[in-house]
Amino acid sequence: MTEKIRIAIDGPSGAGKSTIAKTVAGRLGLEYVDTGAMYRAIGLKMGRLAMKAEESPALQAMLDETEIDFRHGEIVLDGQIVSGQIRTPEISMAASSCSALPMVRRKLVELQQKMGREKSIIMDGRDICEVVLPDAELKFYLTASAQERARRRTEELLEKGEKADFSQVLKEIEQRDYNDSHRTVSPLRKAEDAEEIDSTAMSIEEVADLICSRAHAYLAGTTAR
Ligand code: DC
Repeated sequence: MTEKIRIAIDGPSGAGKSTIAKTVAGRLGLEYVDTGAMYRAIGLKMGRLAMKAEESPALQAMLDETEIDFRHGEIVLDGQIVSGQIRTPEISMAASSCSALPMVRRKLVELQQKMGREKSIIMDGRDICEVVLPDAELKFYLTASAQERARRRTEELLEKGEKADFSQVLKEIEQRDYNDSHRTVSPLRKAEDAEEIDSTAMSIEEVADLICSRAHAYLAGTTAR
């Protein structure tokens, strides 16, 4: 692909953003940036250091010396791959809490904007369309009912051999939806110029097809110009 394209996807937990973004990245040859994994990595580090989810000079000092990057699709925290440690319910909650802190958001948004400056990418999160990449070529808001998201998440956990109780998963999803959309800084909401995709009754392939068709149309338009 010669033309630069940045695809931004926002949406609530469990809407299938990362699976879809990975599929689209593979099909279009784009780099995938999972910004949720970056908040999870900070949540993990704060937990390890027993830091409270509140702003302090110590938190700023910790952030200043923290390195976060992606290597072959894995999230790397201070030189160590932590992909296997950030998907637990505890880290989900820790990520939700630390993502409400302006200090944390400032650090990660800056890093994400740097990643989006040079390359063609697909990036997913909560504030990508409005804050991180406001000039992205394509913007989507991917959602699904809370029940459906909880059903998918329960299935995923059971497939991995982990314990999962649907009503507990649903409760956690609703709690995170509430936290993410009611925080003061960059609350989760659909950007005006984002296309909404409700995936409740759609398969991953169908959603990926839709996004790829928009990307092809965009690229055809730019090359025709
Ligand atoms: O997408 P996820 O579940 O891995 O995200 C983990 C948490 O990080 C979630 O509670 C929302 C938050 N987050 C955010 O505030 N901004 C982003 N760009 C990405 C994630």
